[in-house]
Amino acid sequence: MDDVYREYILDHYREPRNHGKLDQPDVHAADTNPLCGDRVELDLRVKDGRVTEVAFQGRGCAISQASASMLTERIEGATLDELRALTPQDIFEMLGVPIGPARQRCALLALRVLHEGIGGSYTGRYTELDEEGAGD
Ligand code: FES
Repeated sequence: MDDVYREYILDHYREPRNHGKLDQPDVHAADTNPLCGDRVELDLRVKDGRVTEVAFQGRGCAISQASASMLTERIEGATLDELRALTPQDIFEMLGVPIGPARQRCALLALRVLHEGIGGSYTGRYTELDEEGAGD
């Protein structure tokens, strides 16, 4: 079972969905994982509170980039309120494999960028994860 999910992650890493950038996006947000310098940039086009188009670019490990790619599939067509309500747990479920504390920052980078762009609960929570992840 895990192998299937790992393959799914690698597939998104190798062929990222919605990769690129939008011309004059309504929302542009970018952030970097402070520990490794890996980066995700996200562009959204929004109409009547709903995302009509999304694109991302970035660089980094397979988990961070696959997570961004998968997240763009969730983002497209969703309302901003639905996206603001996304939690780290939603991202871990989306990835489908157990994410150890050391990789949580990788998995959550794209969600952090999304919430920085549109407002949401996940911004700036690396410190909490650092505490949970102590010792890994
Ligand atoms: Fe940098 Fe994963 S090692 S985001």
